Amino acid sequence: MKKMWSGRFSGESSRLLEEFNASIGFDKNLYREDIAGSKAHAKMLGACGILKQNEAEAIIKGLDGVLAEIESGKFEFKIEDEDIHMSVEKRLSEIIGKELGGRLHTARSRNDQVALDFRLFVLRSGKEIMAELRAFIATLANIAKSHKDTLMPGFTHLQHAQPVSLAYHLMAYAFMFRRDFERFASSVERNNLSPLGSAALAGTPHKIDRDMTARELGFKGATQNAMDSVSDRDFALEILFNISVLMTHASRLCEELILWSSQEFGFVTISDTYSTGSSIMPQKKNPDVAELIRGKTGRVNGNLIALLTVMKGLPLAYNKDMQEDKEGVFDSVHTALTSVHILNEMLKEAKFNEQNMLKVTKKGHLSATDLADYLVREKNVPFRTAHFITGKAVAYAENLGVDLSELTGEQLASIDESLSADAVKFLDLNASKEARSSKGGTANASVQVQIDEIESWLKF
Ligand code: ARG
Repeated sequence: MKKMWSGRFSGESSRLLEEFNASIGFDKNLYREDIAGSKAHAKMLGACGILKQNEAEAIIKGLDGVLAEIESGKFEFKIEDEDIHMSVEKRLSEIIGKELGGRLHTARSRNDQVALDFRLFVLRSGKEIMAELRAFIATLANIAKSHKDTLMPGFTHLQHAQPVSLAYHLMAYAFMFRRDFERFASSVERNNLSPLGSAALAGTPHKIDRDMTARELGFKGATQNAMDSVSDRDFALEILFNISVLMTHASRLCEELILWSSQEFGFVTISDTYSTGSSIMPQKKNPDVAELIRGKTGRVNGNLIALLTVMKGLPLAYNKDMQEDKEGVFDSVHTALTSVHILNEMLKEAKFNEQNMLKVTKKGHLSATDLADYLVREKNVPFRTAHFITGKAVAYAENLGVDLSELTGEQLASIDESLSADAVKFLDLNASKEARSSKGGTANASVQVQIDEIESWLKF
């Protein structure tokens, strides 16, 4: 079968080469971007007098025909056509004739074509992920609103540390995912430039208007250096990195949901709709969704490392190595979109078990720091001494088999002369939470500021 580039060849390609070389199996994913790019290019060639107006119009009409064929499933993708760029152009030529179809590739190359298609895809995907993130952050803030008074242990080293509210814990994630959103936004902003018209690597002698195609395609402008434009895959690396960080955050939340839904914690009940069963143990209900998201984080990290490694040490300009840039990005984008979406739905339906959370907050003497702070503040005791006295109080409670927060004023006063019965109010777990009203703290008022901040951000 005759190739578009076969002029200088006398022998036919081997089938082995065709199969190895082809990217059509995955870059057919870029058909919309490819056709949009070609339409803009044809329109520009017409406007610049490089094509006659009626020729440009006929090409554009033909391209719309190709698009319709692909969308209706009638289009046949063939290995021999190698990639999406040649598949579309070949079909176009079949529809409008070789003579006219053959004019579309004036003043461009597959090198700038693929750079354009892929960049358009990455920009669109970034915006889609941002929309999913926004919806998810809204859910987090929404749940937080009704859990400012839900006490739970805050952990360090996975050991009970200080009492916090569930709202506070969830808002930590809201801010994390907002940073992710902003990272995608800044990548979209930075990479919003069109490489189309860079041609093979050195620009073109045709009098084209790159700003026009950039505008047509919705870009902020055109890239500056053609050689860089066809060699650059930073936009792809950026989205892979942004997805890795996003999934890393999601994996931390999922890990907590997995722990929290265990018998040992019992903090959360994941709805039946988002749980799975066991093929052998009839009683089981498993948090597969959270586990899968945690697991898929490994796979998106792999995609990032794979492309970094492909790009490392590549000489300028285009090299076929770069055809390896797409599958990992398609996979990571799909993974991020589906993961955030299902995580959002799962969390909306999850039930937090306030009683269980409260029960364990009373384990581990979580208000110990409050007692030490009381001694420093109200009794002028040096912190080190206060730490020691509080330690004695903890040992006293342990001996009785109760939590520090359950001691009475009389018991407290009997432990050390610096302690008086009124200290008991500082041992209260809710009081401990409410005392932390510094900016960014866990007190209800501080958490409300955080919720307000996220909600006003969500509005604009
Ligand atoms: N299929 C190729 C890719 O994905 C398109 C660019 C090919 N350019 C070339 N000069 N062979 O990278």
